[in-house]
Amino acid sequence: MNRFKKIEEKDILFFGSICGTDSIFTDDENFAKYSKDYTEDLRFVPEIIIKPKNTNEVSEILKYCNENNICVTPRGAGTGLSGGALPVFGGVVLAMEKFNRIIQIDERNFQAIVEPGVINEVFQNAVKEKGLFYPPDPASKGSCFLGGNMAHSSGGPRAVKYGTTRDYVLNLEIVLADGSILNTGANTLKYSTGYNLTHLMVGSEGTLAVITKIYLKLIPHPQQTLLMLASFESPEKACEAVNGIFKAGCNPSACEFVEPDGFRLSSTMLNIPFEIKDKIGAYLLIEVDGNKEEIMMSECEAINEVLDSFGAVDVLFAQSSDEKEYFWKLRRSIGEATKHNNTYKEEDTVVPRAELPELFSGVKEISTRYGFRTVCYGHAGDGNLHVNILKDDLSDDFWNNELDAAIIEIFELCKKLGGTISGEHGIGYVQKKFMPIVMPEIQLELMRNIKKAFDPKGILNPGKIF
Ligand code: LAC
Ligand code: ZN
Repeated sequence: MNRFKKIEEKDILFFGSICGTDSIFTDDENFAKYSKDYTEDLRFVPEIIIKPKNTNEVSEILKYCNENNICVTPRGAGTGLSGGALPVFGGVVLAMEKFNRIIQIDERNFQAIVEPGVINEVFQNAVKEKGLFYPPDPASKGSCFLGGNMAHSSGGPRAVKYGTTRDYVLNLEIVLADGSILNTGANTLKYSTGYNLTHLMVGSEGTLAVITKIYLKLIPHPQQTLLMLASFESPEKACEAVNGIFKAGCNPSACEFVEPDGFRLSSTMLNIPFEIKDKIGAYLLIEVDGNKEEIMMSECEAINEVLDSFGAVDVLFAQSSDEKEYFWKLRRSIGEATKHNNTYKEEDTVVPRAELPELFSGVKEISTRYGFRTVCYGHAGDGNLHVNILKDDLSDDFWNNELDAAIIEIFELCKKLGGTISGEHGIGYVQKKFMPIVMPEIQLELMRNIKKAFDPKGILNPGKIF
């Protein structure tokens, strides 16, 4: 049931008076574009798309929507994988793409002020020019917005060494549902001044407020990287090797696991060759970064020894920056290539790192028992395994009605191993039904009460998380 007011002509006139008629859209092409994100094949059509240009416009729009009981779905680039940007109750899609300014890169304090519609990679490159580093690098870095990264505390390969988005957010300017504008913290590296609302906002998936300005921490940019690709016959051994690397005292800047089908799919989609040798069951893509080549080389040697001891068949070093980019491109494209090839669901399982082998074999046991194919890949160093479930020629009935039982088993396994149901993709629309697996009602109720404190009428991104 839709408890929100439908948008009428007078509302459209009001939005136009605030943002200008060139910033509001009600045509079919825009409805089609803003009715989906990267999540599966889901579609929910908004009633209007508004592209505000500044914080005051956001404030006026929210105030009006709050007073008139119109729901608002904030949206970044729409690259999310849990349906967080889908307007499931129609209403307004608040598309933040005009908030695309890097306001300041403060080289004195190693900080930056950005708007939420800045593309992750554009920002990374801008700070790199000044010798600075913003590590969070989701696979979609070339198109995803920093605002969307805030929504889910996005990670990516480098999270294993540098942490996720949350670890770089110092302060946020936000607009509450009633239009109030405030800052959540201070532009400091430390913060012990009451509840940390900044960290509460990060990961809140647009359900608590709209982020209009982001204050980020930066670090010095490492000067070099080395990249190695190890192949294994046994995927379980590859998973075990991951923990071995850390136990040997190494600190790689990426440690990714990929099943051969992952590279097969991405090389086919990208139309670039990648030879998969007979009997290979898994790959580890491992990066080491730093400033001193001898230190990095000796770390790679130590990693190599570990890989050897876990039965690596082959360890290949990328010989040039082009070759590094080739491997990373293959790796980053797996999600998109899976979508390109098949109907699929992407689960974002995460467990403590040493439990990864058990998670992997459990996922395979469950998928064999239920009779579906999975392609597993992801941030092994974080214990974060993306499980792509492929529809292939399974019946719609199985896909829509029976698959959930298998997903529940996978998530129960995560919980048993001390993990949870999402490491970096968020809960959004598609995972919310699974939240009770990892959270008792008392915890969900606490979250609902937090939501009520920020957004008493529940107009912001309804139908998400819980
Ligand atoms: C990746 C995205 C799907 O790691 O999180 O490729
Ligand atoms: Zn990922």
